[in-house]
Amino acid sequence: MALLEVKNLKVDFKTADGTVHAVKDLNYTLEKGKTLAIVGESGSGKTQGAFALLGLLPKNGRASGSVIFDGKEILNLPRKQMNAYRAERIGIIFQDPMTSLNPYLRISRQMTEVLELHRGMSHKEALAESVRMLDAVRITDAKNRVHMYPHEFSGGMRQRVMIAMALLCSPELLIADEPTTALDVTVQAGIIDLLVDLQEDFGTSIILITHDLGIVAGTCEETLVMFDGRVMEHGKTADIFERAEHPYTKGLLAAIPRLDKKVDRLSTVSYDFMAARGEA
Ligand SMILES: Nc1ncnc2c1ncn2[C@@H]1O[C@H](COP(=O)(O)OP(=O)(O)O)[C@@H](O)[C@H]1O
Ligand SMILES: [Mg+2]
Repeated sequence: MALLEVKNLKVDFKTADGTVHAVKDLNYTLEKGKTLAIVGESGSGKTQGAFALLGLLPKNGRASGSVIFDGKEILNLPRKQMNAYRAERIGIIFQDPMTSLNPYLRISRQMTEVLELHRGMSHKEALAESVRMLDAVRITDAKNRVHMYPHEFSGGMRQRVMIAMALLCSPELLIADEPTTALDVTVQAGIIDLLVDLQEDFGTSIILITHDLGIVAGTCEETLVMFDGRVMEHGKTADIFERAEHPYTKGLLAAIPRLDKKVDRLSTVSYDFMAARGEA
């Protein structure tokens, strides 16, 4: 049985100018212990498609369709039930670590609170487990650094703290939403390697969301390409790289070696694609 089955997922936002259809039709399944990359340009619905799974949509957003996690429907669960999934079975890493880290609290406090609340640990046990998790994400001198504040860590190290926090309750599924976008290239590679290792150690299933196809090449078995709220292409990453079927995916692939002018590049890709569909 698949760990996660997303069927006909739609996300709409009510705005003053009418309804925005951010996700129009998203379908995929994820097996236990596997990694799926969701790739697409900015605005294609990657984040809202993931937020919908976890009941994290902005207030004006509505999700419909079906999300089966471990055999149970979880889409639009009441907040209390969803919170239990979110803390204990599904972890999420946001693009900006400061979305989940409280700048005013020591890391130790933020981590131990989760463990005391959700895993019923004593403070002493929770502190030891927090240090163990910081070790696991390769933060050196974790025993002392666990007592630091978020701003005392570098960007890459903060992202590692976030990963450690997301893994605290040993979730079966980890959703990483552009976890490396704000970091420089060598730090990015380190974080991605780390995710792969953690998957081997903990058997976690991972959804890696990124706008950069280059990142997924060596890491994810499967890749799903999103465009305009829909699945453009979905298959083995190697196959997608070898014979991309859609002009849009070809455009994303062609864009990989060109690290200059990111924004222009992406809008050019979708413009070419829309032109191919006769929409531009
Ligand atoms: N609160 C909101 N109200 C209206 N539209 C929104 C809201 N949040 C996101 N959107 C729209 O949803 C679309 C998809 O956004 P998102 O999932 O964040 O894209 P991605 O993560 O692929 O960059 C975008 O067009 C965005 O403007
Ligand atoms: Mg996003």
